[in-house]
Amino acid sequence: MIPRLLWETLACWATVAGAYTIPFPDPCEIIAGKLWVLPREARACMASFPLDPLIKANVIEVVNKTLAFHTSVNYQIQAPPPFEKDVHEDLHADLARISQQDYPSEFDFHLDIYRSFKRTNDGHCGVYNYCYDSLYVTYLPLSLVLLTAPDGSQNVHIAPEAFSVASNEFKEEIDFWQESLPGELKGGLEQLSGAKVLLINGEEPFIAVNNNAGITGAYQSFGTRQNSFFASYHVGPDGWQYSMGNFALQAHPLTDFVELTIQRVNNTSTDTFTIPYRSRLGSASKNFTDAASYRERNCVAKAKTNGVDLYDRFNIGAQAYHESPPSIAFFQQQPSVSPEDARKHPMNVIIDASPLTDINLPEHLQPALPALEQSYSVAQFYVLKDNRTGVLALGSFSAKSFDTFGESLLAGLQELKAAGAKNLIVDVTNNGGGYICIAHWLHRIIIGPKASTEPQAGLDTQMRAGRLARLIVKAIAAGGDPDEVLSYNPIQWTNATHHPLPPASDWLKPVDVIINRHKDSFSQRLGQECQPFIWDPPDHGLFAPENVLIVSNGRCASSCSLFSITMSKLEGVRTVVTGGSNDTPQEYCGTVGGQSTSFSTIDTELKTAQLKNHTLAPPDFLTNSVQGITWRLGFGINDPEAPEEWQGHPADINFPLTTETVNNPVKIWETIAHQEFKGAEFEFRVQNP
Ligand SMILES: *[C@@H]1O[C@H](CO)[C@@H](O)[C@H](O)[C@H]1NC(C)=O
Ligand SMILES: *[C@@H]1O[C@H](CO)[C@@H](O)[C@H](O)[C@H]1NC(C)=O
Ligand SMILES: *[C@@H]1O[C@H](CO)[C@@H](O)[C@H](O)[C@H]1NC(C)=O
Ligand SMILES: *[C@@H]1O[C@H](CO)[C@@H](O)[C@H](O)[C@H]1NC(C)=O
Ligand SMILES: *[C@@H]1O[C@H](CO)[C@@H](O)[C@H](O)[C@H]1NC(C)=O
Ligand SMILES: *[C@@H]1O[C@H](CO)[C@@H](O)[C@H](O)[C@H]1NC(C)=O
Ligand SMILES: *[C@@H]1O[C@H](CO)[C@@H](O)[C@H](O)[C@H]1NC(C)=O
Repeated sequence: MIPRLLWETLACWATVAGAYTIPFPDPCEIIAGKLWVLPREARACMASFPLDPLIKANVIEVVNKTLAFHTSVNYQIQAPPPFEKDVHEDLHADLARISQQDYPSEFDFHLDIYRSFKRTNDGHCGVYNYCYDSLYVTYLPLSLVLLTAPDGSQNVHIAPEAFSVASNEFKEEIDFWQESLPGELKGGLEQLSGAKVLLINGEEPFIAVNNNAGITGAYQSFGTRQNSFFASYHVGPDGWQYSMGNFALQAHPLTDFVELTIQRVNNTSTDTFTIPYRSRLGSASKNFTDAASYRERNCVAKAKTNGVDLYDRFNIGAQAYHESPPSIAFFQQQPSVSPEDARKHPMNVIIDASPLTDINLPEHLQPALPALEQSYSVAQFYVLKDNRTGVLALGSFSAKSFDTFGESLLAGLQELKAAGAKNLIVDVTNNGGGYICIAHWLHRIIIGPKASTEPQAGLDTQMRAGRLARLIVKAIAAGGDPDEVLSYNPIQWTNATHHPLPPASDWLKPVDVIINRHKDSFSQRLGQECQPFIWDPPDHGLFAPENVLIVSNGRCASSCSLFSITMSKLEGVRTVVTGGSNDTPQEYCGTVGGQSTSFSTIDTELKTAQLKNHTLAPPDFLTNSVQGITWRLGFGINDPEAPEEWQGHPADINFPLTTETVNNPVKIWETIAHQEFKGAEFEFRVQNP
């Protein structure tokens, strides 16, 4: 018999190096050291590892047990209208099915879990693995957009800026695609920009758009998931960025080619051609020389994959825990934040398998207007040429420094007013959330002090009160968190009337409910923890609600939803969604949540509360995985007893995009201001119907 310790060491080693028969020649060695490879080459490497039963059982157990902390498991079995067709996923049933199923490789196993979670269409809830997700990012140089013609008809087009983006981002690699084009198109990629797309793989383009909407996840609304297919923009911390959309950028190397039938600009004849996808090593991927180093560097648990006991003074890892970003940071749809701020201030942010883009919006599409002095990071302020309309372009609710961010939002809005702005456009296109208290703050300072902004400028929330969560609270009440560092410490939270919970109290008394015929338990209703703010709010609102418009492509989530929903439903601020299909209802936001978190944070709570050996506690991940969950769920505004998550958020205005306005923020703002604000006059001729 092998001694237990040795057996464990061997088992561990087997998962590290892979005690598998690596195919000869080693498909990972073939692509090692290359930046660009063919999707099938990347796939051959990634899919060359059989699924170790130990890994399979480990991932399923961690994920299944962590779900006890995700607020929405039972709600997601069947969402109410208007999302009854969009959300109907039983994650525990998925995991039961997956545990019974055989997989040709570990990659196939991962894809099944990944996609099952994606089907909740909840941007907070997901299972990601650095071994596979964006290990290679797979591109086409042809991003697509949905344009509306003067007669109101809509067509998918290759983005007018497609070549400009691709030639700048892919530099010399663009030649690969130039050479791949057939016949007289060879070398003529530029001529394809703006072309009308008649067929994708021989079918009407919306077949591909809707197939993608079925797997892309992150937003409850079908319309928003359609919009994810198309290219768009947002403000990043260092400038204007371009999101290529799901057609031209994919997190997995699963597609080799696409066949397009197009009609070029100013041409009545059509072209049909096939163009290959290409995969580029992801920005968080570790280089490797062969299968063993690929696995070792990318696929096994790292220092921050799992949590730590924060009071373990002998553990250097525990002491350094807050000094570097959490393992989920790469997948969070926000710019990087200071780890210190991330620990201090609750966050509500979505995650995705592709990190936030760092591709530049082509210069000719970036605002030529000067950004105001007080602009900071993802918050850029502009005054439009009418001198009446101010714009806050807000790419995220997170920025490097929480304190500076809140300060600059107030100073920037005041600067807009001082410049004469009476109207305000807040452009939150592709804003995936961030700091909860920044969302509350922005609502409060635009609107002023009112019952709807003080003390609660966001949504009341509830946490799930499972057995293990209750034990963490008991451990804290018994003195288990003297430094008040745990998320379950009552010191962090207030009750439904916004009074602080008593310190060291056993506050997580379960309120039992039945959801979709399943018994569930939640905390008491929790109030807000943002006010008093650390910055001084002005005594009066800065803009009248009727003079404010919130603009996005629908992809506004998490803290962005908290802001938009309270502005729309409580203050009557109008919302605009750009670029959507005109026969699909457009929602101005999605994935509301209340507060998001991850497995490693929950694991830290468990380890610190000395509960890691409890039978309900998830074990450590053996793989380089992360799991995101919704940890607090916001109550609704129209129906205050039900979560806001599955209540509708229909946009007031659907704004079609044209060749002139698409991905051109200033043109979009000017056209919207001209249409929606009285007296906003611009020199340009409005092209929209
Ligand atoms: C997941 O956990 C539940 C308990 O919450 C248990 O009943 C179920 O069997 C587990 N599923 C799997 C696939 O392990
Ligand atoms: C198409 O024709 C219009 C009108 O003649 C012209 O202004 C435009 O530049 C042409 N576009 C391209 C891409 O050739
Ligand atoms: C229009 O497209 C056809 C088919 O690709 C091509 O042969 C022709 O040269 C194009 N005409 C112009 C004016 O670009
Ligand atoms: C990865 O790249 C670094 C820096 O280029 C190099 O020093 C290292 O040897 C490489 N490692 C592998 C496994 O290829
Ligand atoms: C806006 O203000 C600038 C600078 O004061 C001025 O030059 C311009 O004419 C004004 N535009 C309008 C439309 O009033
Ligand atoms: C919240 O706490 C305060 C102070 O302890 C108490 O007076 C109030 O009744 C509590 N509110 C609720 C809803 O429990
Ligand atoms: C679990 O861990 C705690 C503290 O580490 C220990 O006191 C307790 O005996 C353990 N319980 C079991 C069932 O192993």
